[in-house]
Amino acid sequence: MVDPKALLARMTLSEKIGQLNLLAAGEGLATGAGGPTTLGTRLDTGMIGAIFGTKSLASARAMQERALDGSRLAIPLFFAEDVIHGHRTVFPLPVALASSWNMGLIEDTAAFAAAEAAAEGLHQVYAPMIDVTRDPRWGRVAESPGEDPYLAARVAVAMTAGLQGDDPAGPGRVAACLKHFVAYGAPLSGRDYDNASLAWEDLLGLYLPPFEAGLAAGAASVMAAFNAVNKVPMHANGDLIEGWLRGKQGFDGLVVSDYTGVAELTAHGLGSGPAIVARALHAGIDMDMVGESYLAELPELAASGLDAPDCGLCLSAESIVTLIDRACLRVLTFKARLGLLDNPYRGLDGAVPAPDRIKGRALARRAAAQSAVLLKNDGVLPLPAEGRIALIGPFSDDRTNMLGTWAVSADAREVTTLHEAIASRTGVQVTTARGANVVDVPWLADRLNVHGPTVEIDPRDPAQMIAEAVTAARAADVVILAIGEAKEHAGESSSRLMPDIPAPQRRLLAALAETGTPLVVVVFAGRPLALGSATAAADALLYAWHGGTAGPEGVADVLFGDEAPSARLSVSLPAHPGEGPLSYAAETTGRPNRGRFEKFRTGWLDLDDADAAAAFPFGFGLGYGSVRYGAPVLSAPTATGQEGEVTLTVAVTNDGDRATVETVQLYLSDPVARITRPARMLIDFRQVALAPGETASVPFTVTCDQISYPLAPSMDLAQQVWDPGVIQLHVGPNSRDTQMAELTWLA
Ligand code: NOJ
Repeated sequence: MVDPKALLARMTLSEKIGQLNLLAAGEGLATGAGGPTTLGTRLDTGMIGAIFGTKSLASARAMQERALDGSRLAIPLFFAEDVIHGHRTVFPLPVALASSWNMGLIEDTAAFAAAEAAAEGLHQVYAPMIDVTRDPRWGRVAESPGEDPYLAARVAVAMTAGLQGDDPAGPGRVAACLKHFVAYGAPLSGRDYDNASLAWEDLLGLYLPPFEAGLAAGAASVMAAFNAVNKVPMHANGDLIEGWLRGKQGFDGLVVSDYTGVAELTAHGLGSGPAIVARALHAGIDMDMVGESYLAELPELAASGLDAPDCGLCLSAESIVTLIDRACLRVLTFKARLGLLDNPYRGLDGAVPAPDRIKGRALARRAAAQSAVLLKNDGVLPLPAEGRIALIGPFSDDRTNMLGTWAVSADAREVTTLHEAIASRTGVQVTTARGANVVDVPWLADRLNVHGPTVEIDPRDPAQMIAEAVTAARAADVVILAIGEAKEHAGESSSRLMPDIPAPQRRLLAALAETGTPLVVVVFAGRPLALGSATAAADALLYAWHGGTAGPEGVADVLFGDEAPSARLSVSLPAHPGEGPLSYAAETTGRPNRGRFEKFRTGWLDLDDADAAAAFPFGFGLGYGSVRYGAPVLSAPTATGQEGEVTLTVAVTNDGDRATVETVQLYLSDPVARITRPARMLIDFRQVALAPGETASVPFTVTCDQISYPLAPSMDLAQQVWDPGVIQLHVGPNSRDTQMAELTWLA
């Protein structure tokens, strides 16, 4: 077995610096008139430690061969990729998968993605993305597990388990990379890459818990976030990387930068090349992705040190060399963990075949059905097997947008459209009409088409398109209206000022609502949208997100009742696009919103009642059953001390005539504490399958850990505390419609 420390001892300084360089496969190895590519040159001179984005086993293998030739000690590369919600087979967006609340399902999707990635020679994936976020404007909500730290922590564990199994070097497994460390989901005004200034309690109680959970589950690597947290850019944030992540959590894996994240420290205002490189390395960024700042600056820094009092850091040449050794040893240890030091072709020899794609597609279809949240149903769903359907809307015949953002290895031709998924059912007659464009502003369409064509503006007169749709609706028994966002409406660098249904689609919806034909609205989206009048206009409303390769088939399964809807929102849907950031778990204030006409209240003067009624709270979702909750029962009225615990039990009964899956949710509030606390917070949930007429008794054990919270005048002084006194437990089908049981926690 090659020992990373022994290997390090044999390396030259330049070879060590080379290991810290992480490049994109990009232009590949092709040589043009201008000679070898940057990548080729780096491989030939041993100036690269890893590559991401190779796209095929053959190209990864060719790069590995070249790297081994170019490296005096034949140190292998590792290969990485953005496998965010599937690789070749695309599963629903992460925000959608989180809405399934089904951790087994999430683990299965991650395991399938890992197997597809590993079969192509990939060793690490840049997932899970576990940024808690409460701002619907931020485009990367799509990639996130939603607004709640507890749900996000559970997702982090499930994803890590699915990707890595017991061993990231095991067959069909890859190393997970928790990202983006940290609080990337709290950017000012929802603008991507913007900074976050927050209380340390927010960091500890809201943004760090998913990382803590992912680390405890054994995640082998972490990626730093682009943003600054409390004035310190994360790529230079030693207190959080070396301090919290490594010091407090004992993380001994690899920390990679985000794309050019080290170089961007200059734009953050931290100084020129040498200064930012020294700061990033000192803060604990082991590998520099794409920017090549380490490669450019470290040789000179290692010779002369850094004397830059204006950026708060003076380091001797010896200290820099020690830091290079530290980072390089982490890279080598990561490679050893991946089995590459002993077998440089591990994963590149085609020994482990790709998983069965038919099974993957079936999993993707089930995942799409279980991620689609039924928000409203006036009895129109499930649809009968026979009838005349008018399928209307710009997403009725769409493939590309169904994949959602960050589907970098997918082939949209594999997507079955909603039209195809519905028309394949015998018994239904489908007519279609586009009805409206996704957007009708050319410059916006151009922006949405930045990664390839996804949105086309139909040049026909909008009024004529609506008229055609109305005619089709009048001739049908039911309208299915497929509206929402394009795939690039959400994702990186895709923040929206107004997270709502785009205007042309709203006009279409209003016209269809007037026809009187029952209206089933299916919303495809990458973020929580303010639905406005869609809620009142629809007879049934299904929030389908972007469901991936088999998304539309999963939607059809729910619409026709082959799958019972079971998803619950992982993010609150705002009442109005201007309402974010928002969360069910908002802190209590001195003037709570007790009523719309109360003079001094926390709330909106100009939010009208119709819009207010269009909001849906975190955890909300309907099934086809009808579930009744009994009164919650506590095992005791008190619990005592640190070791104390209490059990809350609630009976749930399916009064409907269809089988259903109920997600029983448990929330906690601490009405008297040392600091202002969330009004309520999710602490546990349980999914139970209920046959018609069945009752299940659902127990939850509550421990002192769950009532404790962080108190942190600074990160150094942070402590976890709890207060004796009244604790309220709220149990129910979502974060709003709960019943309370109160107990006293004694000292
Ligand atoms: C930038 C993104 O922020 C990150 O999530 C991704 O993994 C890298 N680019 C690599 O593509």
